Amino acid sequence: MGMSRRDLLTASALVLARPGAAISAANTARTLPASDPRALVLCWNENPYGPGPAARAMLGSTIAQSSRYPDSDIQQFIAALAEHEGTNPESIVTGTGSGELLCALGLLHGRAGGEIIAAQPTYEELATYALRSGATLKFVPLDEQFRHDLTAMRAAVSERTRAVYICNPNNPTGTAIGATAIRAFVESLPEQVTTIVDEAYMDFAVGTDLRSVADLIGTGRRLVVLRTFSKIHGMAGVRCGYAIARPDIATDIANARMTTPSILALRAARASLADRAFLTDCRRRILASRARITTELVRLGLKYAEPQGNFVFFDTGMPLERFAAQMRARNILVGRRFAPYESWCRVTIGTEPEVEVFLKELGAVTTADHGAV
Ligand SMILES: Cc1ncc(COP(=O)(O)O)c(C=O)c1O
Repeated sequence: MGMSRRDLLTASALVLARPGAAISAANTARTLPASDPRALVLCWNENPYGPGPAARAMLGSTIAQSSRYPDSDIQQFIAALAEHEGTNPESIVTGTGSGELLCALGLLHGRAGGEIIAAQPTYEELATYALRSGATLKFVPLDEQFRHDLTAMRAAVSERTRAVYICNPNNPTGTAIGATAIRAFVESLPEQVTTIVDEAYMDFAVGTDLRSVADLIGTGRRLVVLRTFSKIHGMAGVRCGYAIARPDIATDIANARMTTPSILALRAARASLADRAFLTDCRRRILASRARITTELVRLGLKYAEPQGNFVFFDTGMPLERFAAQMRARNILVGRRFAPYESWCRVTIGTEPEVEVFLKELGAVTTADHGAV
């Protein structure tokens, strides 16, 4: 479902942010409103089913060995990731969450006034960190289907551009673009520009050509693909992610990192990687709940962007602050406002019972609000 042209008028121009400029509170500013501890937390795109059984068992059995540095675990984990990705260990860099690697990439490409292009809205961790490092940011509005507008992003590239960030599927809209379009985009860029493709939610995508572009790294392009154990693996609190890139770029990222994952994260993530039964089950349940939510949105007459992640972005029909406050009063926490979509809400897909509670309250809030107008 798209937006009308008029809705998009406010977003029709490139938005520039310069060093020192404030950008809106990032998705990363995890300041929860005061709430009942039993609140439904549907605002951070976490996966409530995780960690999986293999990761849980590994976390437990690793506690006793936490007095040791994890040097050999890092090597074993990198080897397992390389095998998983069908690449060599030199192309893998681990991070304390993929967020840390986004920060390292923001620093590497943004320092000394480097120009970075990103969509608006998109996940802001890279942009926020890059700004602190002195970057110039160029934000390009999404298209009418809330997807990255690759034509406009390509047109925004200048001789100062150091990197383009593509979040696919995109947080907060949930929309995705095909691998063929990304390949053509990457191939059209000048040699020195890095494309950073954040595939945090790719495991939840369904559709023609919606797949990873990690296979393009072998072509020698300046391309970085990011993955995380925070989403399909349900290990957001454990903090583990990784990047895949050409070995020289992987080395640059590794040198810009501040930390490496703990022994708990390394071992649990490796165990989770092999827990196919858990990952398949998680995906099946989240996709079923996603369909359940969109069916209900249609019934309520609320527009939504095509969801390809573990969350749904939909039009509440009222200012987001009003909607969020009403949900909070019902002990449900939903995502913040993402300009320029002032009435749209991002809600994380919780467990099946949580989804039922959310839908019941959504119906009550939107029906009451329409009745009140
Ligand atoms: C698109 C995207 N990339 C990266 C991250 C950061 O994930 P991590 O927990 O691996 O730092 C998030 C977290 O919500 C995200 O939405």
